[in-house]
Amino acid sequence: MTQRLGVNVDHVATLRQARKATYPDPVTAAGIAELAGAEQITIHLREDRRHIQDRDLRVLRETVQTMLNLEMAATQEMVKVAYEYKPDMATLVPERREEVTTEGGLDVNAQKDVVSRVVKNLKDGDMIVSLFIDPDVDQVKAAHKVSADRVEIHTGRYCEARTEKDRMRELGRIVDASKAAVKLGLGCAAGHGLNYDNVRPVARIQEIDELNIGHAIVARAVMVGFDRAVREMVEIMRTP
Ligand code: PXP
Repeated sequence: MTQRLGVNVDHVATLRQARKATYPDPVTAAGIAELAGAEQITIHLREDRRHIQDRDLRVLRETVQTMLNLEMAATQEMVKVAYEYKPDMATLVPERREEVTTEGGLDVNAQKDVVSRVVKNLKDGDMIVSLFIDPDVDQVKAAHKVSADRVEIHTGRYCEARTEKDRMRELGRIVDASKAAVKLGLGCAAGHGLNYDNVRPVARIQEIDELNIGHAIVARAVMVGFDRAVREMVEIMRTP
């Protein structure tokens, strides 16, 4: 199965919000990502609006040519936002204000009633619903029980593993969870912490049809683009 790449453009917005400026614009980045082969644009509209803004979601809904995946907390406020803009897919993620990034998967079993209500609401609005969960077969089963269409497996622990043994164990968990998902008829994505060094083994897992990658791509863009950006400024300064 070929996997589609969902490019998460949140950190383009992080850079913009650091100055409360109008650029760099995640909408422009999304267009470039699509031209370069991304088949999905992923954004996380957080409760505190620390990076992506409502305006970004509104404009991306109009401009994204592939799939728009909205990561969101399982709250009524966010369901209202999703209904207003109708992304192609909504991915429910746990959200804590003080976290730097999404630190763990959703505990579907612990919040079965809330998650199941939100899944139903979003599906009634014709959105594909995915749940961001840890690589844990019990969570996959819980996602199936609450009628999610898909799961996205949190790859953070695999990416952070310091030894080969730990990395292989974590990769095994991702494989097991993805197999369980597909067996239950769920679509299966993966993401979080994937980069140019660690993506390959996850990209080879047959059951996984989508990878969402943000930080590594934005970070790479800064570095591979820095030389040209400086040269262009010097040239402008020296051109009479
Ligand atoms: N998938 C989900 C559900 C996420 O919350 C994130 C981080 O926003 C990502 C993928 C992308 O993670 P990263 O920025 O580490 O590539």
